[in-house]
Amino acid sequence: MAQTKPVVVVVGSSNTDMVVKCDRLPHPGQTVTGGKFVVAAGGKGANQAVAAARLGAHVVFVARVGTDSFGQEALRGYEAEGIDTQFVVRDPDDHTGVALIMVDASGENMIAVASGANHRLTAADVRRAESVIARAGVVLVQLEIPWEAVRTAVKLAYEHSVPVILNPAPAVPLDDDLLSRVSYLTPNESEAEGLTGIRVVDEATADQAAEALLKRGVRHVIITLGARGAFLATQERKLLIPAFKVNAVDTTAAGDAFNGALAVALARGLSLEAAIEFSAKAGAVSVTRMGAQPSLPREDEIAEFSAERVA
Ligand code: RIB
Repeated sequence: MAQTKPVVVVVGSSNTDMVVKCDRLPHPGQTVTGGKFVVAAGGKGANQAVAAARLGAHVVFVARVGTDSFGQEALRGYEAEGIDTQFVVRDPDDHTGVALIMVDASGENMIAVASGANHRLTAADVRRAESVIARAGVVLVQLEIPWEAVRTAVKLAYEHSVPVILNPAPAVPLDDDLLSRVSYLTPNESEAEGLTGIRVVDEATADQAAEALLKRGVRHVIITLGARGAFLATQERKLLIPAFKVNAVDTTAAGDAFNGALAVALARGLSLEAAIEFSAKAGAVSVTRMGAQPSLPREDEIAEFSAERVA
């Protein structure tokens, strides 16, 4: 009998990414030539929605795009991935979000976003999806959308006892009222620093930052530490789950691959350690390829990656 797909609701942004891959990132005022140009579907919310869909979830996406060609193209892409777009609003009053991204030879990036329609996502847009949120396995939210939309998504998930993953990217200050409703908080090093004031450079400082976030009411803190892995902290335990070594081509959307995979794994009922390991694999595969959504792996690719590690 076919396994029922876990339901993941993603509330977040949708962007079109204009990417230049160059040997090195320019300093302010400097021009670097010789780059390669790619246009790719992106946006933290959309990337996480696509990641979860490719890994086997039934994904419902709550977002806003413009009525421009970027928005139409984005919607076509989500539909091709089997994502439910009934709560994606086509907004005639602003453009689809755009991200200008530069990626250097080591895969590091710099990103500037023009949010456009993303910044017009309202609490009412999110409330319209309440009945779907109420029966979701996991709700997944990031911070590229207005604060009221974030708060409403977290609050609705909490009220319906649905676990909510908040990926606090890009970092903005978060209040304890919100944090106490978050089941899983997944900052990277710099976002953890932004939230706690503690500079996260290794396992010891990740531990301190995680402790500060637990004290503010988060139930599970997972700090992603790039090539070092992911640091998990709950009231009961703390541990570092190591990363998988790969040759990075483009780290854009590695965090999104991780969060999308985490949502699927948790909605499927995997243990937290197993879910983080699965997510680390998704992140690792994604950095070996260019672009945000083009880099996100499917389930069979994760299985292949795992098999290669064992062989
Ligand atoms: O997390 C990566 C994403 O951040 C990119 O796809 C870009 O659109 C920005 O939102």
